[in-house]
Amino acid sequence: MIKTQQPIGVFDSGIGGLTVAAAISRLLPHEQLIYFGDTAHVPYGDKSVELIGSYAERITEFLLDEQKCKAIVIACNTASAAAYSLLRDRYKGSVPVINVIDPMIEAVIADDDIKSVGIIATKTTIASGIYQEKFSRRKPQLLFHPLATPLLASMIEEGFYNDNISSAVLEEYLSHESFKSIDGLVLACTHYPLIKKEIDYFFKSKVKLFDSAEVVASKLKKILEAESLINSERKDPNRFYVSDFTQSFEHSTKIFFGKQVKLELMNLWK
Ligand code: DGL
Repeated sequence: MIKTQQPIGVFDSGIGGLTVAAAISRLLPHEQLIYFGDTAHVPYGDKSVELIGSYAERITEFLLDEQKCKAIVIACNTASAAAYSLLRDRYKGSVPVINVIDPMIEAVIADDDIKSVGIIATKTTIASGIYQEKFSRRKPQLLFHPLATPLLASMIEEGFYNDNISSAVLEEYLSHESFKSIDGLVLACTHYPLIKKEIDYFFKSKVKLFDSAEVVASKLKKILEAESLINSERKDPNRFYVSDFTQSFEHSTKIFFGKQVKLELMNLWK
């Protein structure tokens, strides 16, 4: 197979990464995507760096060795924080590996209206200190306010959004003292675009919200162009694998991806 026609591998702990996959699909309509949602191990956000690293390695092997992907997108902040350097070093010079954190950092620091930014993410992402470290190194004058919001990813994964439960949980988190004076908020979890409207409503549209979907898709496009890997000819159907089949996943895929997808069960840990 010609390299340009090989698919792009995208993975997340569950359905959240479908927000990134959907943006890639819109921007690069000829590319075939192979999505892997590790629903057997979701949420990643309360697991150790070592465990997430071992899951990410196994999924990447599947996407590269069995699915012959030409690039890997880690469509999960937690896995990006825990395993990006591991995967980048391992596959250096063979396939591009893209994380969701760096494009988000670029988008925030390029926006001169943002002086004080909140960061909401899983416990593991916040504890890794990766956003804090990158913001202070790249734009020392930027004030940042990290907050772990561990309930959100599971809440969304279970289908609770745009309802009374999500609004009560969000109210509790977003009323945090440190968010009183922010002008931007980084949605540092790929599940959060699903609750973006509710967050915007909470802040009365006065806080600019950053999510990774579009910025990651355009970063991927630039990298594929630079490496002459763009597929402009044909497109095989996307494939969506999950390591465990859950009804909430099937129900929510349509909302996350924008259209109905057929899920295939693939247990990589048998
Ligand atoms: N979607 C994920 C992220 O971006 C992870 C949520 C989880 O599995 O805890 O962080």
